[in-house]
Amino acid sequence: MSYRKDKLSGILRIYLIGFMCSGKSSLGRALAQNLGWKFIDLDEEVMVRERMTIPEIFQEKGEDYFREAEFKTLKEISTLEYIVIATGGGLGANREAVEYMKSMGKVVWIDVDFEEFLKRCGKDKNRPLLRRGEEELRKLFEERKKIYSLAHLHVKSKNSKEESLRELMQALFKK
Ligand code: S3P
Repeated sequence: MSYRKDKLSGILRIYLIGFMCSGKSSLGRALAQNLGWKFIDLDEEVMVRERMTIPEIFQEKGEDYFREAEFKTLKEISTLEYIVIATGGGLGANREAVEYMKSMGKVVWIDVDFEEFLKRCGKDKNRPLLRRGEEELRKLFEERKKIYSLAHLHVKSKNSKEESLRELMQALFKK
């Protein structure tokens, strides 16, 4: 299947949303490269602006501060065009943020199974939410799915990045 950029007519921004470890950042980077667009990882952008890691922001300023900072950063970088943006797992679970992204571009939900998420993420120290117990995370996962599903497109995260990318490209270029 060959893809032509002009078939993405009118789309200036592609936002990837979904739970932690669904592969948003690595897929987003690969997608941007394929399209010849710019890529921004929102978590990284927040860290640069705040000059702190995410665990430090959570610890020193609190989760609410982080949530405000990521939404504010999202709005600022959404002035750019021809850009793929990988968002943090909490932003795509915020209805207001999803509506905002939908008004600015195409929103794609990268959907990972809960068991796969556990396998991939383990006890990653850079993700403060992973300090929560498995049951609490499962509840959060189910709750968030209701908002993630408001995205324009739904792509299942596969075991291989190449396969996920193929699905993502097919979803984006489908008429
Ligand atoms: C979060 C996900 C993280 C990061 C922060 C909070 C969440 O991003 O924004 O740790 O609430 O799900 P990833 O989805 O890239 O892990």
